[in-house]
Amino acid sequence: MKKILLAAPLLLLLAACDKSADPIKVTELKPGEYEPKEWAKNWPLEHEGWEATANPTPAGKSYYKKGWDTDGKIYDKLSEFPYMPLLFNGWGFGIEYNEPRGHMWMLTDVLDVDPARRKAGGACLTCKTPYAQELQEKHGKDYFSKPFDEIHALIPKNHRELGAACITCHDPADASLKIKNEFTLGRALKDMGVDTAKLTNQDMRSLVCAQCHVTYVIPKDKDMKSTGVFFPWQNSRYGRIAIEDIIKRIKSDPAHLEWTQAVTGFKLGFLRHPEFELFSNDSTHWKAGLACADCHMPYTRAGSKKISDHRVMSPLKNGMKACIQCHTEGEEWLTQRVKSIQDRTASLQLRAGFATAAAAKLFERANGAAKAGRKVDQDLYSQAREYYEEAFYRVTFIGAENSMGFHNPPETLRVLGDAAYFAGKSEALLRQALAQAGVPAPAKLDLELDKYLANRGKKKLNFDRTVEIKDPFKTQARF
Ligand code: HEC
Ligand code: HEC
Ligand code: HEC
Ligand code: HEC
Repeated sequence: MKKILLAAPLLLLLAACDKSADPIKVTELKPGEYEPKEWAKNWPLEHEGWEATANPTPAGKSYYKKGWDTDGKIYDKLSEFPYMPLLFNGWGFGIEYNEPRGHMWMLTDVLDVDPARRKAGGACLTCKTPYAQELQEKHGKDYFSKPFDEIHALIPKNHRELGAACITCHDPADASLKIKNEFTLGRALKDMGVDTAKLTNQDMRSLVCAQCHVTYVIPKDKDMKSTGVFFPWQNSRYGRIAIEDIIKRIKSDPAHLEWTQAVTGFKLGFLRHPEFELFSNDSTHWKAGLACADCHMPYTRAGSKKISDHRVMSPLKNGMKACIQCHTEGEEWLTQRVKSIQDRTASLQLRAGFATAAAAKLFERANGAAKAGRKVDQDLYSQAREYYEEAFYRVTFIGAENSMGFHNPPETLRVLGDAAYFAGKSEALLRQALAQAGVPAPAKLDLELDKYLANRGKKKLNFDRTVEIKDPFKTQARF
């Protein structure tokens, strides 16, 4: 009896040895092999999963991230969060801003989005094509400043719709993880003093994603032409990239202010999908040693092999397979935990977002009063503006982050709580200034949300307005 018990692990070990004895590499790949079909000759199972990101994801599993589920709709962030079209009015994000979908779509979706979103030029390709690093090296500043279509046409014809490819994350020699975009992520890590030679494989399982799932700045010259792309991490350190440090970095140079907000007339910076920043800022799971790939590319069995699931997606949409490796409570319980965190985030995000929108409308009123010859106290106005910008950057940060709070629940609530506080301060100062100027604002403001949502430019919109997120705790009753 004892012998059999002992033999079992031995058999497993033998089986494992058997597997590793398989010839893993069949073809030698070129050092710069972009074509996934070539990689597929060596690693067909990973390629299969990677290709499957083109397919719609199962409907009815995720509450907040219905990117492109089998129900066939593309979800529109601007309808879900109606304060956004007001705040982002004045540039591309106020016209079209969709929830993400599978990796296979990343470049075609940029080609398909309202052209206002590609106005920054070639710079926009940085997170959309595996050729970004090469194009930047070859064309220098032109890569950033030249029109999008001109730079896009420099990509070989057969790869003009290719998004994150094997070479984006791997070294063709042995499929080990490798950062491709040295000019963005490589530089940002060096700026924080990270010795990239000392990064562990577990670090790399997040950092390959951090080439794109981060916020960035596209600095402008005086003609508003793009001069670069960088991650605003210079005031931060690895494991603690906080919104306060990002805001400080954005505000350190007027060249970082990429657009003019229509409702206030302010030149502002912007924040995009900061998944890496939020997750790595002292979250429970980061501290427990997890990486992005642990939850979004769980190990999976494919015949006799154990591989990383390259069909990158929401863990909710594949039965919480990733979580169950550590949490034994089961799919339903875990889904409820995620929803509970996300409901609280949605509620506070709407509260803070509407409070920021209210302040924006009061600036519009104050600007109008000043234009009409009223005396608006400049001291109060500029104090209000400082608070307003603090609120704006914070609600935009969390609103752009794609986990709806899950990646770092306490940090999310801290940032949104601060945003609501700063927006409230701004509103109070503006109301005082408006009262002194003889044009007091009514207690209940008309935010004119429908105006901003409906008037979004020429493009026929493909969104479905029935998908609004209703505030789960009804805290936005005031508006
Ligand atoms: C080259 C840039 C790039 C890299 C690298 C990258 N992503 Fe993405 N990711 C994107 C873009 C862009 C989208 C949105 C695509 C769209 O909507 O067309 C996206 C979408 C997603 C989605 C949503 C999928 C869905 O079904 O809705 C998840 C989850 C995701 N990425 C996780 C990751 C993880 C985890 C990594 C690292 C293992 C990673 N990504 C690496 C750019 C990237
Ligand atoms: C967005 C980044 C990303 C892309 C794109 C990507 N991979 Fe991976 N891949 C990973 C990560 C992360 C791992 C886990 C590596 C580890 O744990 O050491 C991985 C693991 C692997 C492994 C090791 C075995 C395994 O499954 O864990 C192979 C082989 C591999 N990938 C091949 C490919 C091929 C082929 C493609 C293109 C069809 C591809 N990968 C595309 C991120 C990526
Ligand atoms: C502990 C598990 C976990 C880790 C680690 C993790 N995520 Fe997530 N992620 C989630 C969950 C849960 C969601 C919410 C999915 C939903 O609501 O459907 C999510 C959502 C997302 C989304 C939006 C998915 C969609 O379908 O639209 C993206 C993109 C994403 N994560 C990227 C990342 C990146 C990049 C990292 C690393 C910096 C990371 N995640 C680390 C669990 C994790
Ligand atoms: C590699 C192991 C591991 C994986 C995978 C993992 N977790 Fe965790 N999780 C932990 C650890 C460790 C903690 C902290 C200690 C604890 O509370 O048990 C934690 C804490 C949590 C918490 C409570 C703390 C918080 O941030 O609210 C929730 C909820 C949670 N995990 C959900 C998930 C979900 C959902 C997934 C999959 C998307 C997941 N976890 C994947 C290890 C893991």
